[in-house]
Amino acid sequence: MRPLHRLLHVSALGVCLHVHAQKDARLLVTLNAQAFTTAAEAHEPGKSPFSVEAGKKEWLLESVSGWRSGFWPGMQWYLYEATGDGFWKTQADRSTRQLERILDKQAHSHDIGFQFYCSYGNAYRITNDEAYAKVMLRAADSLATLFDPHYGSICSWTYRKRIGEWPHHTIIDNMMNLELLFWAARNGGGKRLYDIAVSHARVSHKAHYRPDNTTAHVAWYDEKTGAPNKQMTHQGLADGSMWARGQAWAIYGFTVCYRETRDPEFLAAATGAADAFLKRLPADKVPYWDFDDPTIPNAPRDASAASITASALLELSGLVTNKSLQARYRKEALAMLNELSSPQYLKPEMNHAMLQHSTGNKPQGKDIDVPLIYADYYFVEALRRAGRL
Ligand code: GLY
Repeated sequence: MRPLHRLLHVSALGVCLHVHAQKDARLLVTLNAQAFTTAAEAHEPGKSPFSVEAGKKEWLLESVSGWRSGFWPGMQWYLYEATGDGFWKTQADRSTRQLERILDKQAHSHDIGFQFYCSYGNAYRITNDEAYAKVMLRAADSLATLFDPHYGSICSWTYRKRIGEWPHHTIIDNMMNLELLFWAARNGGGKRLYDIAVSHARVSHKAHYRPDNTTAHVAWYDEKTGAPNKQMTHQGLADGSMWARGQAWAIYGFTVCYRETRDPEFLAAATGAADAFLKRLPADKVPYWDFDDPTIPNAPRDASAASITASALLELSGLVTNKSLQARYRKEALAMLNELSSPQYLKPEMNHAMLQHSTGNKPQGKDIDVPLIYADYYFVEALRRAGRL
């Protein structure tokens, strides 16, 4: 029997999934709790796990200066929150605090939001320790240094502008980093940070969206007028295609903007992007890496896009007032989590990651059909949100 409804429960003994099947059939999938613990204990200062090589068990490590470094501490905070186990608190605190050294007054990229909101943000939310909040306020100020009032937006990859490769530009992923600014504005950082986030969101809506509510990964801007003048891709298949994770970032990012502002423009952006994504989702609810890849159904999947979208839809379902839309978003999110929790994606025997089959950057041949730390992070976040339904 195909289970319809599965909910995560992280037990105090280890990381366990209690799978509630259609009626009374109940499966217990024990995730590789020992492996997770081993990975946490194998901590290397200045390094952060991001993926696993085929045929290997252990997480690959990279410098904490990379954009993915907030997800590992963030996941450890979620595990601490779910289990109350001090082991995870110690691990989470250690991997969070090692990020402080990458914080500069002048930001180098928009990724600061990913890095500091997922780590320090969860740390502060769970512990209320002001030491974490202080770092977050510095991180928000640093991110704000990338805001250019002429364009009304944050420049996403400053090095490309610095070397003259690209003019001022935004990437849709940048929407995810606004949550740090909203948080900081509410917590002593000043209204300026709120205004920057709102301006960036408005400009991005105009610059990245197409009439059918699919989104372009990258937007360029005219130097004289400051207005957007070009849509293109970097990690998607083509300039006009729907790159699955980019669309997921748009759904999540505009959902956050609506939560923070209650501006109907942002609700329309979130629901528009969500509807475009859901309309073309395969029957098993996990997207291929790009919705327009002509090799579908043989193209690689991107489980991370499903995790991010499931988490976003669970929040969005609580923000929309239309009852049937609420129910639809909830149902779709749970169906995605259901599939991600199946042995097709969740294979604790394979390696130390939770989810298999994510795709990071296919055009550049990087991280194709592999576990990725952000797939796991948003999966756990979504399951946590699902548990509250
Ligand atoms: N830069 C974030 C991503 O690859 O989705």
